[in-house]
Amino acid sequence: MEAVLVTGGAGFIGSHFVKRLLRTDEVAHVTVLDALTYAGHLENLGTAFFSPKLTFVEGNILDAQLVDDLVDRSTAVVHFAAESHVDRSLINAGGFLATNVLGTQTLLDAAMRHRIEKFVHVSTDEVYGPQVTGCAREEDPLRPTVPYAASKAASDLVALSYHHTYGVPVCVTRSSNNYGPGQHPEKIIPLFVTRLLQGDPVTLHGDGGHVRNWLHVEDNCQGLERILFDGQPGEIYNLGAGTELTNRELTDMLLILCGAGPEAVTYIEDRTANDRRYAMDCTKAMGMGYRPSRPLSDGLAETVEWYRANPNRWAPLLRNPHAPTPTVTLAPATTERRTSHA
Ligand SMILES: NC(=O)c1ccc[n+]([C@@H]2O[C@H](COP(=O)([O-])OP(=O)(O)OC[C@H]3O[C@@H](n4cnc5c(N)ncnc54)[C@H](O)[C@@H]3O)[C@@H](O)[C@H]2O)c1
Repeated sequence: MEAVLVTGGAGFIGSHFVKRLLRTDEVAHVTVLDALTYAGHLENLGTAFFSPKLTFVEGNILDAQLVDDLVDRSTAVVHFAAESHVDRSLINAGGFLATNVLGTQTLLDAAMRHRIEKFVHVSTDEVYGPQVTGCAREEDPLRPTVPYAASKAASDLVALSYHHTYGVPVCVTRSSNNYGPGQHPEKIIPLFVTRLLQGDPVTLHGDGGHVRNWLHVEDNCQGLERILFDGQPGEIYNLGAGTELTNRELTDMLLILCGAGPEAVTYIEDRTANDRRYAMDCTKAMGMGYRPSRPLSDGLAETVEWYRANPNRWAPLLRNPHAPTPTVTLAPATTERRTSHA
């Protein structure tokens, strides 16, 4: 992989992945394309931003001309850019469909034209919908229940259709909930940690019995890197860690790590379409050498320490927790700010 284009590389998972790629000798150059929405921050890239192997481009994946230009200079694409927060999709589905579906299609069109060697489309376990029992396998039907998950499911299908129709070497990854340093405090773990560290209460939906699987962001990036290098075009890979627990159990662990008592927890009415349980079978990725290695207890302790040590990174984001999803137009401005260190 000579030159990898990473979309959404200033977001949570994308920035961890970019730092990992820059440490890899197998990749000569990384270009990040990111619109720097409320969820994207150059600080996430840290000193990696100044690497001579990195070019950062501020721009929108819906800008077909810009995307064509960048894909033309790349040999592979790893596509993270998305509207990613379920709660926001309940109030503005349109922005999710535009970025997540049409943005993906814009990238795929360019990948088709420029004969990209590998296109990794980063998706989620939420596309399978709730699993009452058992674990979702890659060939299972998709039953998304909220606009975010539906937009990701649609983009997965569009991506796979470009493989079947045009031969674009697409791999789709579906990971369970990620956690780790640098996640936006709108997501449950950083939301609860930052509130508890400030002495504020946290709120659980319903009875707190919703089951999620938690995957350390570095373990996800390890799997993504493996798929980038060795994934078979046209294949889907589930990436999880088998750490199934209820939100109540998760909260109990966070209370201890943050030094708070059970009185810090309150319960409210359940959220609309709050899927009861997600679970995936990850045998296929394991067969390719994918090995999530971080025990949840260690990963959570490390994550809490990061938030304790870096209030400068998350406190400013709390001041505007309901920042609107930016309006994404289908004819974006042509003036893009580009910063090149290449
Ligand atoms: N966070 C999770 O637990 C999780 C789990 C499974 C899958 N995923 C998927 O992984 C990917 C990354 O998730 P994340 O948590 O890092 O998200 P994030 O919200 O932290 O980051 C998204 C990034 O995409 C950028 N972006 C948004 N719209 C854009 C556009 N139109 N053009 C260019 N850039 C744009 C943002 O500025 C931001 O930097 C997403 O595709 C998400 O669906 C996330």
